[in-house]
Amino acid sequence: MQRVFSGIQPTGVPHLGNYLGAIRNWTTLQKEYDSFFCLVDLHSITMPWEPEKLRAQTLITAACLLACGLNPGRLYIQSAVSTHARLGWIFNCISRLGWLNRMTQFKDKAGKNRENHSAGLYVYPNLMAADILAFHATLVPVGDDQRQHIELANDIAQKFNHDMGVEFFPEIKGLIPPHAARVMNLRDGTKKMSKSDPSEQSRILLTDSAENIALKIRRAKTDPEPLPSEVLGLEERPEALNLVTIYGSLSDKTPQAVLNEFGGQGFGQFKNALTELLAEKIAPIAHKTNQLLEDEGHIIALLRKGAEAAAEVSEPIVQEAERLVGFIR
Ligand code: AMP
Ligand code: TRP
Repeated sequence: MQRVFSGIQPTGVPHLGNYLGAIRNWTTLQKEYDSFFCLVDLHSITMPWEPEKLRAQTLITAACLLACGLNPGRLYIQSAVSTHARLGWIFNCISRLGWLNRMTQFKDKAGKNRENHSAGLYVYPNLMAADILAFHATLVPVGDDQRQHIELANDIAQKFNHDMGVEFFPEIKGLIPPHAARVMNLRDGTKKMSKSDPSEQSRILLTDSAENIALKIRRAKTDPEPLPSEVLGLEERPEALNLVTIYGSLSDKTPQAVLNEFGGQGFGQFKNALTELLAEKIAPIAHKTNQLLEDEGHIIALLRKGAEAAAEVSEPIVQEAERLVGFIR
């Protein structure tokens, strides 16, 4: 049976991009496949962080994911399971500097001041490869921004197999949704929605109330033209395309089907319909998240259970990788 693995950084409250690009697929895939989902706190300290905030955000992210319906026994904290860091180190020694130099996410995050970023940020994709391969997972549901990292994970797996003369690590397949794999910033349709944008108005959080959602959608950037009746040409209107895509994804319709319904109308009416749909889908998650957060001890207990299950599956795989490398076990 194929195994599913995916991760999310506990660096803030999950947003609509995380939900439509990844989390929603996780909740469906877990019904069909043996699945593990991970709060990747080792990845979160690759950028500057505050310990108290990291702790609080890890709990909020866990609560949100549980509220979305993830299996409690399969959600855990990365740093609590040592196999990630152990295989990650081996992969640091398999992966090539030339490969890492091509990673666009590193370039985006490091910006102009490369010299002053952590070594961890640079080797981040090696650890991500280890996360997946420590479970021999083959299906990895992620948003579009992770495509290049999945390709790198496959390069690392192949080089490991080749160098050790084995067929040990399987090929990984990224599962990227056909629509809403890249939900955009509500204030600037050319940037992706992200936890790190300084403007709270740029993203819908999974903890937003119906009122908050209404306000953010009312303020979302649009253009003066009514909605067209054809998707063709909508790429030149990134904000409009984004709202149409979000509506479609939440209602399981293609962007074209949404335009069949709303084409020719102004944004006023469309925004009202979108607000209603978002409130219906997101507000219950927010409510459940807040309920769960009232008992932190319970969340931590569930995460520990998840970590035990994760260790049980990944420990023998990583021990075998260690033996193949020549470590005595
Ligand atoms: P992160 O918050 O960066 O840890 O991302 C967790 C998951 O959400 C990954 O699978 C990302 O690809 C996905 N994701 C993050 N931002 C977006 C976005 N704006 N649109 C679609 N998917 C996203
Ligand atoms: N790099 C991913 C992100 O920023 C998070 C992540 C870490 C991940 N390890 C993973 C995703 C393994 C899928 C599989 O979104």
